[in-house]
Amino acid sequence: MKLCIALDNPSRDENLKLAISLKEYANDLWLKVGFRSFIRDGNEFIKELKNLGYNIFLDLKLYDIPNTMADAAEEIAKLNIDMFNVHASAGSKALKEVMDRLSKFKKRPLVLAVTALTSFSNEEFEKIYGSDIKTKAKEFAKEAFTAGLDGVVCSVWESIDIKNATSQEFLTLTPGIRPFGEDAGDQKRVADIKAAKENKANFIVVGRPIYKASNPIKVVEKILKEIK
Ligand code: C5P
Repeated sequence: MKLCIALDNPSRDENLKLAISLKEYANDLWLKVGFRSFIRDGNEFIKELKNLGYNIFLDLKLYDIPNTMADAAEEIAKLNIDMFNVHASAGSKALKEVMDRLSKFKKRPLVLAVTALTSFSNEEFEKIYGSDIKTKAKEFAKEAFTAGLDGVVCSVWESIDIKNATSQEFLTLTPGIRPFGEDAGDQKRVADIKAAKENKANFIVVGRPIYKASNPIKVVEKILKEIK
């Protein structure tokens, strides 16, 4: 299981400071660059993080018509990042077109499909998708697997089910992690490290419990020790 830290700090300097302070663990860590950071700091910032030795997950959750998604995927692949994601609800055709477009790259980033955001309660999810999270997340995962993606973003609580419905090798990346029972904030379907391990998550995403901690390095060290 790998730890992926969400760089959701309000400023580039704070994100960079955190990345530099954890540099000695760069080989073991993934950094998640999301909307806030990418919109503000762009590709130059990603290059800086790559130079520190980190693996980069670009969390832009693409959702558009198939051709536009494939165009975006092609541009992302040129950024030399290691993983990015799309929304599974964009549909099979879009997922396939993304993977087709990436096939021309000798080395392409891993591609994950978002199933159900971890901030959704079952009730909220059902209102939008017309089905419960468990059923729909599995359905989305099967479509992503068939389209040739590498895995999905889901909560810890769907991870095993999804692997059983696709392949044990199909990756699950699970946000909503509160490593040692910290405050959930806006997340609804949270889990701790022990549960993530038991449910075979390949990546855990941790944001606020790390970057808002008074000593983020200590928290990261504690998590790394726990997931070894
Ligand atoms: O601070 P926290 O640990 O809740 O951060 C979780 C991160 O994971 C955020 O950057 C959020 O955008 C992202 N994420 C999520 N649920 C998803 C996909 C991504 O929480 N399904």
